[in-house]
Formats: sequence, structure tokens, C-alpha cells
Amino acid sequence: MQWYLALTFIAIALLCEDTLSQLDSFNSTALSTRAFVKKDCDGVKTYICDSCTSRRPCFGTQEIETTFSCGTGFYCIEGTTADRCGPTPSEACVISTESTSFTCSATGIFPDPNNCNYYHVCLAISESSTVYRCAPGYVFDIVTSSCIRQVSVSNCVTVTCPVGAPRYVLYGTSRVYYAVCNGVSLPTQVLRCPNGALFMYFSSSTLFGECVYTCSGQGNYANSNNPSSYFQCYISNGRLVYNELDCPSGTVFNQTLRYCTRQ
Ligand SMILES: *[C@@H]1O[C@H](CO)[C@@H](O)[C@H](O)[C@H]1NC(C)=O
Ligand SMILES: *[C@@H]1O[C@H](CO)[C@@H](O)[C@H](O)[C@H]1NC(C)=O
Repeated sequence: MQWYLALTFIAIALLCEDTLSQLDSFNSTALSTRAFVKKDCDGVKTYICDSCTSRRPCFGTQEIETTFSCGTGFYCIEGTTADRCGPTPSEACVISTESTSFTCSATGIFPDPNNCNYYHVCLAISESSTVYRCAPGYVFDIVTSSCIRQVSVSNCVTVTCPVGAPRYVLYGTSRVYYAVCNGVSLPTQVLRCPNGALFMYFSSSTLFGECVYTCSGQGNYANSNNPSSYFQCYISNGRLVYNELDCPSGTVFNQTLRYCTRQ
């Protein structure tokens, strides 16, 4: 009984430290967590890797619902009797030098979440992105959405998914690009607000938000994320508001005509 009580205290102490390390590591090295697969407690190991940068205790085959971060600059690596924290990430967590395509959430151009030397082009929603590489010495710039000559490390902006609750994560100071993190290890989805819209969190404490479109006048406006939808802007209670509407099937929105036409 006493033993169990002591363990609880240690767990609480580590939990506090854990929260701090997570904040520390928020802007650290971009890890590719795409290949990481969490294993179950096997009855032998006393700790198992929970993610690339954290581990959790096992009691036999039972998992303890507590995650311990490895701390800044440390990674969870496989051991024989326990997975441990060390300075070298495991192979599944190595920073990707090659980039893999992702499923397109919108049409247009996107940064790569793990490597600023790459960018993605999406021609259709739900299709795979096409991966492009910037010229040597160039990085994808999230402000101009093009490759620029890298003059400082701050030109390279990637996304690090924190371990914890699922949430949206911003790309540096951009309010146009953002990413979805599932809080464990699943792929990061890269999203982009359509032209004229900016990403806003629902409140200062929430982890979720949405793209908010600003109408430039009354009438219909193209949605740069989706050619077969448009924004219908109108005045309600003295304010410009909008609906996002779909074009009839088989048609796309024509900005000149301001209605949907056959392609
Ligand atoms: C994280 O960001 C802070 C301030 O933005 C900076 O001082 C610190 O060096 C960064 N840490 C890493 C590991 O990049
Ligand atoms: C939109 O409609 C105009 C007028 O019919 C036409 O000239 C133009 O090519 C159309 N644009 C697209 C992208 O289809």
C-alpha cells in the first residue's frame, strides 16, 4: 500500500515536469512521427514508447494512463526490458529527408510539415499531393507561398506536433497555413485557409479553430480552396456575412460571371 502511495507521488512530480518539457519542446526539431507505431505493454517491459519523445509505464500487460516526456533533446528508444529516453531518435522517428505526399484538403500549394526544402501541390481535394523540391539554398516561404533564398534559420518553418490532446497547430506566424495534430503520432494534415480568410482559434484557451472569411463586398466570391464552391456575401443586421455554398455537381465557380459554369 505504502509502495503504491510513493509511486503516485513520483508520478505526480514527473507529470508536472512533463508538462514543462512539452512546452519546451514545442518549437524544437521537427520529427517525422509518420512511421512511429505505439506498441502494447508486453508483460516484460516496464516502460513502452508512447510517442517519439515520450514513454509510459507498464504493470505487466497493463498500461498506465500517464505519459512521461523524455524532455528537450531526448527521444524514446526501444530497450529489451524497458524503452528508455536517449539523445538519438529511433529509426521510425528520424527527421525525414525525403518527403512523402499527403492527402489534399484543398487545391493549391502547401508547405511540407517536416522539411522546409519541400512543398506540395494539390490539384484536387482528396487526391495525393505532388511533392516538389526548392532549388539548393532555397526554402519554401509560408508568406509568399514560393521558394525563397534562405538567408536565416527563421526562413525555415515546419510543424512540431506536441504530445497530448489533439489540436490545430499554427505554422509560425502564418494565419493561412495550419496543421492538424492528433496528439500521439498519426500524420500531420496540412491545411490552408482560402484567399481572403484567416485562421482563428475559437478562443484563447481552445486548441481548435476555423478559417474565417472576410467578404470584400456583397455578391458571390470564389473559394480558392475548392473550385466547386463559393462564398455568398450579403448584409445581415447591418454586417457583411457569408455562406459557403457548393456549385451544382459538374460545375465550377467562374469569378468573372460570379456563378457556376460547366468546365
Ligand atoms: C524556441 O523558441 C524560443 C523563442 O521563440 C527560442 O528562444 C528558443 O531558442 C527556441 N528553441 C528551439 C529549440 O528552437
Ligand atoms: C469565365 O467566364 C468568362 C465569360 O464567359 C470566360 O471568358 C472565362 O474563360 C471563364 N473562366 C473560366 C476560368 O472558365
